[in-house]
Amino acid sequence: MSGINAAASGTFRIGGDLEVNRLGFGAMRITGKGIWGDPADPQKARATLRKLPELGVNFIDTADSYGPYVSEDLIREVLHPYKNLVVATKAGLTRSGPDVWPPLGRPEYLRQCVLMSLRRLGVERIDLWQLHRIDAKVPRDEQFDVIKQMQKEGLIRHVGLSEVNVEEIEAASKYFTVTTVQNLYNLGNRKSEEVLDHCGKKNIGFIPWYPLAAGKLAEKGSILSKIADKLGATDGQVALAWLLKRSPVMLPIPGTGSPDHLEENVKAASLSLSDEDFKALEAAAK
Ligand SMILES: NC(=O)c1ccc[n+]([C@@H]2O[C@H](COP(=O)([O-])OP(=O)(O)OC[C@H]3O[C@@H](n4cnc5c(N)ncnc54)[C@H](OP(=O)(O)O)[C@@H]3O)[C@@H](O)[C@H]2O)c1
Repeated sequence: MSGINAAASGTFRIGGDLEVNRLGFGAMRITGKGIWGDPADPQKARATLRKLPELGVNFIDTADSYGPYVSEDLIREVLHPYKNLVVATKAGLTRSGPDVWPPLGRPEYLRQCVLMSLRRLGVERIDLWQLHRIDAKVPRDEQFDVIKQMQKEGLIRHVGLSEVNVEEIEAASKYFTVTTVQNLYNLGNRKSEEVLDHCGKKNIGFIPWYPLAAGKLAEKGSILSKIADKLGATDGQVALAWLLKRSPVMLPIPGTGSPDHLEENVKAASLSLSDEDFKALEAAAK
């Protein structure tokens, strides 16, 4: 036992009943360049996944479009049968090449995605299924309605959304309980501040993607680097600790294909920032 454990980040109950340690893992980086195809070093990707339970990480975020399929397939290969592990997946984006992600929200396609993720992940019900994007070319009510049906049929336990605003969360809530929202958010990019506050009020889990980024604050000599030096931590660890302190509904999912980076990221779970440092970072980011 290394003593490094994601449990130190505290817990959150997704949908009120699915408890996870708040510091999770993003499984997008265990694929090839452009999130396309197999990872450059598949054994390293497998070793990263194997290390998750050891480090107390019990919340994994993936998507059918990562690879596509590569990420879900590797998770199944390495971690199935899942023990005390929530595997959240997403769908609603198609792939026509590296770094290309056109949305497709036609109900029959979303249903196929859910059925295929069930098969790939080897489960009878997906614990948390997230609509990767609302497709602007398809009436959103049709997208929400098929999700509601699939939840009723028992294919999905909890539903989340990704890259949405407050109005969209409320529109979707007429169909199902929105249990998580996954938006771009980090120390340097705070465009989703209003959505985060809304999630805090409604006890919706907020999953910030690209959590390690810190924009200008990542530059040498910045307040972030100074605080990191003082605490004997890396900039990335401080960025994660800041997120964890920002809100009790925050569920960061730093992504990596490296076991060493994973360990470094999980150490952030036990890094506590003083109120003074938290405020200094907050002020510098604004
Ligand atoms: N909903 C959405 O639209 C959406 C969009 C993007 C991502 N996501 C999700 O969010 C997760 C996280 O986002 P992200 O992967 O874009 O950003 P991130 O976790 O902030 O950063 C990942 C990048 O940082 C590197 N890294 C990770 N840990 C490191 C460490 N300790 N030291 C040095 N470098 C490190 C990784 O490379 P190495 O592999 O070399 O460590 C990778 O290039 C993804 O895995 C995915 O699950 C969701």
